[in-house]
Amino acid sequence: MASIVSPSTARVLNSKLAQKIMSAEEAAGLIKSGDQIGMSGFTGSGYPKAVPIELARRIANANFRGEKFQVSVFTGASTGPELDGALAMAGGIHLRLPYQSDPETRKRINAGEMDYMDIHLSHVAQFVEYGFLGKLDVALIEVTAILEDGRLIPSSSIGNNKTWIDQAERVILEVNAWQPAELEGMHDIYYGLQAPPHRGPIPLMHPSQRIGTPYMEVSADKVVAIVLTNSPDRNTPFKAPDDGSRRIAGHLLEFLKWEVQKGRMPANLLPLQSGVGNIANAVLFGLEEGSFEGLTSYTEVIQDGMIRLLKSGKLTSVSATAFSLSPEMLHEVNADMAEYRRRIVLRSQEISNHPEIIRRLGVIAMNGMIEADIYGNVNSTHVMGSGIQNGIGGSGDFARNGYLSIFMAPSTARHGSISTIVPMVSHVDHTEHDVQVIVTEHGLADLRGLSPRQRAHLVIEKCSDPKYRPLLSDYVERSERMPYAKHTPHMLGEALSWHNRYLRSGKMRPAEE
Ligand code: COA
Repeated sequence: MASIVSPSTARVLNSKLAQKIMSAEEAAGLIKSGDQIGMSGFTGSGYPKAVPIELARRIANANFRGEKFQVSVFTGASTGPELDGALAMAGGIHLRLPYQSDPETRKRINAGEMDYMDIHLSHVAQFVEYGFLGKLDVALIEVTAILEDGRLIPSSSIGNNKTWIDQAERVILEVNAWQPAELEGMHDIYYGLQAPPHRGPIPLMHPSQRIGTPYMEVSADKVVAIVLTNSPDRNTPFKAPDDGSRRIAGHLLEFLKWEVQKGRMPANLLPLQSGVGNIANAVLFGLEEGSFEGLTSYTEVIQDGMIRLLKSGKLTSVSATAFSLSPEMLHEVNADMAEYRRRIVLRSQEISNHPEIIRRLGVIAMNGMIEADIYGNVNSTHVMGSGIQNGIGGSGDFARNGYLSIFMAPSTARHGSISTIVPMVSHVDHTEHDVQVIVTEHGLADLRGLSPRQRAHLVIEKCSDPKYRPLLSDYVERSERMPYAKHTPHMLGEALSWHNRYLRSGKMRPAEE
């Protein structure tokens, strides 16, 4: 565990900036209704923990007085209850992007009370730089410390912080003494990305290569407030892999061995990307028990399974943009941060998720899904086609550009009442062109080189739950008899009523679930 240091000025070494230290309440007072704020934070790490709460309080008071006060919140990805939860609860968010997983935020979005723009994580920084999303008024960023020369030591995630600081008119920094000082040196901030037509190649040839500097730069004149905090990141307790997740992992590892045997991958595989959630973690656990050695990872978040692989020596290095650890694992990592710093690189998400690098390194993309259809289209984000669950996150960045694109889920959801293999997905995030492998606990469908009709039969045979298999096969066989389309056979009315069946049965509620 990081040594408990009370908020103090010890981590603000620049004397000019030290003069801007103030309370969270005073800093929140510098934010205006209508501001677009770029905040730090990625999967519950490195998000600001004091100013958003004070801002939420201010907003609630304004609303109480009948004055409308709302801001737009841009982040790296999901954050914690002190940010998303508090601001959503106060009704303080006008527009949220690019990813969230907070229950209160989800409820408000699905109730139509808040706008949400769900975009590829690799797009966010450049969309702001190109001016697609309007002016960024404020950057609100958690850092570990401020050096004498004013450079910033980033925190436990980087996300879009470099861009927020560069683009915002005003900068508020939270210096969190809870973050281990040994994070210094783990980051790699690349300042070489220009906007087209001046953009050149990114000189990154290996997952662990460093191409930038460990520090973020900020113009002292833009900094309007510094707030001292001492608060932990939100950590998600770890759920041990269940039987279904272990079976999914087993099918996937068998498949990877086969790919090596066929000579399509080196013996130590290619850099691994592992998505969020317990299935992703189970795959990493499977790798720990398996025979692969000398693995590398070029991914977005570092979960418990990655750390275990590093500890066992099976994984040599990890590149990501954030930690996403259980409290127990965080305790271990924080205690040994100086050692982990040798094998972990944290980068801006425009680099961790950059299509150019993912394609060049040949990343194996492994992500969770809500449902897949028999033709290989994948829904990662919506329940019943209209209610948002979390967001696309980086899954599209990796799926479209990876060497192999793999999607995984249990074959049923909601205690078996819903098949996650469906005739037609209720929302499309990843098209059939971006999906090569689908895995459930029943098996793995390798869709490479197959026509739509071949894919449909294989997905049903390998991945669907036996309870739903006859229904799905019946759908395909009857669709194939239709005279109008033999390429991707569908009966559109029936495909859609597949989803409605669950609505009518009352087994689930749609958007607010
Ligand atoms: N129909 C209805 N509900 C479904 C469903 C389906 N087909 N599939 C899953 N759900 C529900 C689950 O019941 C669960 O609901 P609950 O939270 O009320 O219990 C919820 O969706 C999450 O499902 P779960 O099985 O716990 O999945 P998970 O934790 O493995 O997450 C995703 C799966 C798809 C939601 C998650 O991987 C995600 O957000 N992906 C998109 C972003 C991404 O891939 N990021 C990584 C890129 S680096």
